[in-house]
Amino acid sequence: MAVCARLTFSKMEINMINQTDENPITPEEAPTKSVSASKLFHIKPDMKIKAFSEPSTFTPAMDPDYHFNEECTRAILAGFVHNRRVLIQGYHGTGKSTHIEQVAARLNWPLIRLNLDGHISRIDLIGRDAIVLEEGKQVTRFREGLLPFAMHHGIALVFDEYDAGRPDVMFVIQRLLESHGRLTLTEQNKVVTPHPNFRLFATANTIGLGDASGLYHGTNPINQGQMDRWNIVVQLNYLPQEEEVKIIRAKVAKAKPKEVERMVRLAGLTREGFAKGDISTVMSPRTVIAWAENQQIFGGDLVQAFRLAFLNKCDELERATIAEYFQRCFGMELPETMAA
Ligand SMILES: Nc1ncnc2c1ncn2[C@@H]1O[C@H](COP(=O)(O)OP(=O)(O)OP(=O)(O)O)[C@@H](O)[C@H]1O
Ligand SMILES: [Mg+2]
Repeated sequence: MAVCARLTFSKMEINMINQTDENPITPEEAPTKSVSASKLFHIKPDMKIKAFSEPSTFTPAMDPDYHFNEECTRAILAGFVHNRRVLIQGYHGTGKSTHIEQVAARLNWPLIRLNLDGHISRIDLIGRDAIVLEEGKQVTRFREGLLPFAMHHGIALVFDEYDAGRPDVMFVIQRLLESHGRLTLTEQNKVVTPHPNFRLFATANTIGLGDASGLYHGTNPINQGQMDRWNIVVQLNYLPQEEEVKIIRAKVAKAKPKEVERMVRLAGLTREGFAKGDISTVMSPRTVIAWAENQQIFGGDLVQAFRLAFLNKCDELERATIAEYFQRCFGMELPETMAA
């Protein structure tokens, strides 16, 4: 059974298997093309950074309308340019993972995102013995996991949901957090030295001290020895409303500008309401995007789109409060207001 399971490879694994040392991930040894940070990311003062001249298989696709947050982008750039280990923390749907991805896309840096959910185990990261065909014969070979693969080939790794990782996985990561951290593969009696282009990032909703908000079930406190090894920890929470409006408008070009402003205002009210303890569900920028997109799908029906994107996720007892926020922003009653 186990063999059969390993015969089904994800697209990424197939890509990995096809890559060999003779066929490097990037055409260059190191990034050499000089680019302007202010042109690429709209940050000031400008600085020149080195990028790869061409994208590779693992370079993320570019979102040309992506809106960069200055502080977060600077932190990520320090990660790429100076090989710093960067952890981004903040509420859900604020753009943590995509910020790293979009910086990599513009630097043509190969990058892999890995969700550290409870199913990722130590052997997924390190590797395992697998049966492969060699000259028509089935033989057992060690197939390296994502970690040695990224380290060998100079790929940036992002551990998403870092605060949900299992303890066995977290201890594998610990040593790598030192910038020249090498990985000991006990299974193979080998030590992997990171390629100079290898980078490590992580994103998390909590800061490793457990979840005080009640929003993030399934997260774990992070060992302080490990937290101590992240060179840069940056927060990315909700952006000012006018910036969020720009993001939504760039994503959903057909949305009406005035309506988007109201959507974002409503999202702001849910965040204030949450902070005051009035409601227990907050509307993330991701949800606002989903609302605007749903509206286009459902023939412009703002209310139905709202219900599907957000209201149905809320506690029934709190729906009247949320309907009241809706009334305040759009001057329209929802049936949920009547229920109150
Ligand atoms: N600054 C931004 N510019 C453009 N799109 C954005 C921006 N921030 C967030 N988005 C969009 O919002 C959605 C959520 O972003 P992302 O997945 O990066 O959030 P996250 O902070 O990693 O969330 P989670 O904590 O749930 O993992 C994506 O579709 C992303 O494209
Ligand atoms: Mg994320």
